[in-house]
Amino acid sequence: MSSKSINIFIFLLFLIRLASSDRTSDCSNRWIYIRPLPSRFNFDLLSNCSAYPLFDDFCSYLPNHGLGPKTHNHSLSWYRTDPILLEQFFHRRILEYPCLTQDPTLANAIYLPYYTALDALKYLYGPEVNSSNQHGLELYNFLRKDVPHIWDRHAGHDHFLVISRPAWDFSQPFTNDPPVWGTSFLELAEFYNVTSLIPEGRAWGWQEQAVPYPTSYHPSNSVVLGSWLKRVRNSRRNSLMLFAGGGGVAATPNIRRSIRNECEDNTSGGYADKEVNI
Ligand SMILES: *[C@@H]1O[C@H](CO)[C@@H](O)[C@H](O)[C@H]1NC(C)=O
Ligand SMILES: *[C@@H]1O[C@H](CO)[C@@H](O)[C@H](O)[C@H]1NC(C)=O
Ligand SMILES: *[C@@H]1O[C@H](CO)[C@@H](O)[C@H](O)[C@H]1NC(C)=O
Ligand SMILES: *[C@@H]1O[C@H](CO)[C@@H](O)[C@H](O)[C@H]1NC(C)=O
Ligand SMILES: *[C@@H]1O[C@H](CO)[C@@H](O)[C@H](O)[C@H]1NC(C)=O
Repeated sequence: MSSKSINIFIFLLFLIRLASSDRTSDCSNRWIYIRPLPSRFNFDLLSNCSAYPLFDDFCSYLPNHGLGPKTHNHSLSWYRTDPILLEQFFHRRILEYPCLTQDPTLANAIYLPYYTALDALKYLYGPEVNSSNQHGLELYNFLRKDVPHIWDRHAGHDHFLVISRPAWDFSQPFTNDPPVWGTSFLELAEFYNVTSLIPEGRAWGWQEQAVPYPTSYHPSNSVVLGSWLKRVRNSRRNSLMLFAGGGGVAATPNIRRSIRNECEDNTSGGYADKEVNI
């Protein structure tokens, strides 16, 4: 799959609503086959949501297919979303993509519903830290043994997957022994032909196509988002402020941390009395 066509996917999948209601749209060159994988590569990994306290406990974000819990008990409630679950909710949403095919030989792209970043937790924060260069090999072996002609048709070039953590976490050089940080998933020759949709993809290498982080708080679909934007645009707003960004925890002074400190410390003005996930 060319990088241009994958860019078009990203555009379709993230900016327009994936579950397009326009079922008559032309599917030529847009057929996707979802490759069935054993549950150890996806759903089983969700059950370990509290197994890595050093990372986080994301169990409370699992409801609604990874969109997270509702903030209110009414039908138009927004959701609290944990970006780590991008893999899960992409998987759920692509089921509504209008150009799915059951026949891999007709597909223009093969989606691998592998929860790459969740499978990485055992290497990043768990007991398998010293074998982080193995991350992904089990999947590769499966793909080459199970219905091998699906891979062989284009040597994996038409395969893509979604990764919910930055490329930095998966690009550990094989020469680091013991490992410093990250798995070597994106360094593996076995996956060289596979496209990854990934937040903070690196600028080089066509395999990584950067996608936005899911916001921590959002509605279930673009119609609700549109009506909220309309309401905000029509309301009187005397002062505007938007800050999107976390982190900034390095020892050296930096803008992100200064803004966060400001928001956290200053309750007197009533401008921003708390750090808020937007
Ligand atoms: C869950 O975590 C434990 C401890 O790291 C690990 O041994 C096990 O393989 C994990 N299970 C899955 C399904 O990833
Ligand atoms: C919604 O209702 C359920 C059942 O009454 C309750 O357990 C839950 O806390 C409520 N959620 C919110 C966000 O109010
Ligand atoms: C990983 O390797 C380092 C260095 O060899 C060692 O100190 C550490 O105990 C190992 N960690 C685990 C979880 O085996
Ligand atoms: C990747 O594609 C090249 C051809 O472009 C092929 O030679 C190579 O074997 C493929 N790699 C794998 C792991 O299938
Ligand atoms: C806090 O906000 C008030 C009111 O806007 C402002 O006068 C004050 O300088 C701020 N203090 C700090 C520490 O930012």
